[in-house]
Amino acid sequence: MYSVFDCKILDLSKVHTDAGNITVLENSKNIPFDIKRIYYLYDVPMGADRGGHGHYELQQYIVAASGSFTFVLDDGLSKKEFFLNDPSKALHIQPGIWREIKGFSSGSICLVLASNSYSESDYIRDYEEFKNFKL
Ligand code: TYD
Repeated sequence: MYSVFDCKILDLSKVHTDAGNITVLENSKNIPFDIKRIYYLYDVPMGADRGGHGHYELQQYIVAASGSFTFVLDDGLSKKEFFLNDPSKALHIQPGIWREIKGFSSGSICLVLASNSYSESDYIRDYEEFKNFKL
């Protein structure tokens, strides 16, 4: 079982040019799982909270592609907050971690790289069920 202390913000490589930056994530190179799905959260209304679930198996890399927001991670024992505001960094969320997302800045884009395709059966949406799973 993973704890919130196994979830870290990682520096991604950045190619800097006079015309701006490029950051690349490439399977088998700088991400510890094969990317099976990419999705992004955007047009999140000010003050809205998202998340409120865990995953049994899924691993994710979270990137603030634009703007900023905060992930609150919870392993059933400890909670840890991660503020993301830099597209050259990624938060690695391990399996079995509850997350809430809050404080989206206007126009922010939360890019998610995921280790599996969408499966509702991989979600734990009830916090008591999550706590029991973590026991
Ligand atoms: P959910 O993951 O619960 O949102 P968040 O954690 O950002 O608050 O997903 C919201 C809805 O979108 C839910 O009904 C399922 C749907 N969804 C898909 O159909 N495919 C996907 O890949 C994702 C991430 C969500």
